[in-house]
Amino acid sequence: MSYPDARGNPCGSSTRAALAAAEQALWRMMSFYDAPLADLDAAGAADPGWALPHTMKAGFLLSLTEPALLGDAADEIALAEAASAHAPARERAHLQAVQHVFDGRWTAACRVWDELLLEHPRDALALQWAQLWDFYRGDAVNLRQRPARALPDWDEADPLHPHVLALYAFGLEECNLHAQAEDVGRRALAADARVPWAVHAVTHVMEMQGRFEDGAAWLRQHQSAWAEGNGFAGHLWWHKALFRLEALDVAGALRLLDAHLSGPALQLTLHRVDAAALLWRLHLMGEDVSAQATALLAGWGPDAAGAGHYAFNDLHIVLALLCAGQVAAAEAWVARCAQRALGAEEARRSNHPVAREVGLPVLRGLLAFARGDADGAVDLLYPQRSGAQRLGGSHAQRDLLDQTLLAAAAAGGRRALGRALLNERSMAKPVTPLTRHWIDRLALPARERA
Ligand SMILES: [Fe+2]
Repeated sequence: MSYPDARGNPCGSSTRAALAAAEQALWRMMSFYDAPLADLDAAGAADPGWALPHTMKAGFLLSLTEPALLGDAADEIALAEAASAHAPARERAHLQAVQHVFDGRWTAACRVWDELLLEHPRDALALQWAQLWDFYRGDAVNLRQRPARALPDWDEADPLHPHVLALYAFGLEECNLHAQAEDVGRRALAADARVPWAVHAVTHVMEMQGRFEDGAAWLRQHQSAWAEGNGFAGHLWWHKALFRLEALDVAGALRLLDAHLSGPALQLTLHRVDAAALLWRLHLMGEDVSAQATALLAGWGPDAAGAGHYAFNDLHIVLALLCAGQVAAAEAWVARCAQRALGAEEARRSNHPVAREVGLPVLRGLLAFARGDADGAVDLLYPQRSGAQRLGGSHAQRDLLDQTLLAAAAAGGRRALGRALLNERSMAKPVTPLTRHWIDRLALPARERA
């Protein structure tokens, strides 16, 4: 027997307390205000026969991209399977998608959520999770189109409607539709100020447009909504640090790193990835960040079981190792990634072809750069540039590959490539102090410094 949830979707529980707790968990997943685990436990306690809270818990744990959480996720999937005999088809589809995620079949999971959304466009959980794994797969088109396919079917009075607008805003931004993205993000925040994903989408627009002062002001304006008690705070501090770097305020970026992207602030791989990305940018700019990188690795440490789980994370671990001057450890990590990416046993995982075709050449390019072979680094990195979105993450996150190419071009003999990349950069956004830094490093003629 099934009952409707808050927005009319068929639901496997009729226990009011369980439904309310699951709805609260859903809001937490979309807003990042605290983890949803306690609410999901409360939903499970209120209706022990309901499979969905277990499915949601498994999906949440998997969303953190931590290999160490796979065991806990498997336990929750088993509990959901045991309870799902009488679950409605919508909830069984969620379980199937989460099982695909557990198996590393992220594309298959998104396909299941896509099917589900055709039938139930107001399934916020499907929209949220599909966007997350579209993001992890670098599928910009679906980041934009999937929420667009559902939004007209939503009631604007629904408390989660601004969160769905935020999904759409981010998708628009990743498709380079900046003006639309900013408009939709601002609409979401006008409806509900506590939508950090919308703050984030507009932040990305400002990043892509080189509006580093606007971006810092924007984050400051909304800081009360994202900086306290929010799981997304670390990433937004990272964005704030990027704006400082764009202004060539290295000291300001380091202050933000020390205050918000180090020590106890680094609880999850997602946080450590941001710290590593910032350290790498500083390293490329000539800063000695080996002490901070060593501290980062003390809590992250190369763990053989984790190598090759997700190419995007592997990239960032290697960046941290190289910032720390641990080139041999980085080589060992890449060797373990290669073993997994070139083996046949994981061929069904979505990460497998990405790691083999994009991840490995990029990692090897970084190793070449660290060994002082700047031209070799360019030869490995540049061909991957046009397909690098397959690694996942955002344009802003992957910009560190472009900055690595600029550093390699400046250090080696590929000045023409450096010049071309700077041309492209200055066509995309005004010449910022950071761009000027790269023009100087490449010793380009004065006319290009305007
Ligand atoms: Fe971001």
